[in-house]
Amino acid sequence: MITDIHCHCLPGIDDGAQDIKTSKQILDTMRDNGIERLVCTPHFYPHENTIERFVTNRSNAYESLKQHLEAGYPKLYFGAEVLFSRSLIDNPKLHDLCLEGTDYLFLEMPYKKLTSQIIRGVEQIVDNMEVKVLIVHIERYLNFTSWESLMELMSLDVLGQINAKSLMSMRSRKYAIKLFDGNYAQFLGSDMHNMTRGDVTVNNAEKYVEKKVGKGFYKHIMHNCDKLFANKDIYDIR
Ligand SMILES: [Fe+2]
Repeated sequence: MITDIHCHCLPGIDDGAQDIKTSKQILDTMRDNGIERLVCTPHFYPHENTIERFVTNRSNAYESLKQHLEAGYPKLYFGAEVLFSRSLIDNPKLHDLCLEGTDYLFLEMPYKKLTSQIIRGVEQIVDNMEVKVLIVHIERYLNFTSWESLMELMSLDVLGQINAKSLMSMRSRKYAIKLFDGNYAQFLGSDMHNMTRGDVTVNNAEKYVEKKVGKGFYKHIMHNCDKLFANKDIYDIR
């Protein structure tokens, strides 16, 4: 099943789709590209929202979109793109932000140097919070931090996702491939916000991962998504 685990298609909830029209443009694009399962991951910013309020807003956004959903659209699931903050540690509601039906928490790192304090904070979430951590678009942090500090982060018991768009240019592709090759990344997402940012659906990355990482690797990524939805542990099984 072709799955995209990262998308901002719910209307009016974050910097993604601002209205139903944009949500439908995104879903049309997903359908046209054969995406069958789509995780809605609105941003959750701990410094400006509570988990309870976020969950309510996300449900309301979905309800407003529901009547406009069409046959052939991917099936939608609730998730969240959770900005790391130390305030998450020990938040008893943290599990409510996981991909629905699973213990997988999708964590976004701050766009600055990854300090040991930040990395230790993520480690505390991994160790204490009864969630399994998946770090989103890990290649993007290389614009702000060193390869070494990214490796320190990804050496924790965490999984990683790459944006499909990063496979499209030669410069970012090099790092995306290296991260897949090293088993620091196991997933692809579109991170689609609207129709003007240049985000691409996950199937666009297929030819690059097949050619550069290995034949059958795109299927392997999609199989990892099946395991994610089944809340199974994911190791390198290549
Ligand atoms: Fe995102």
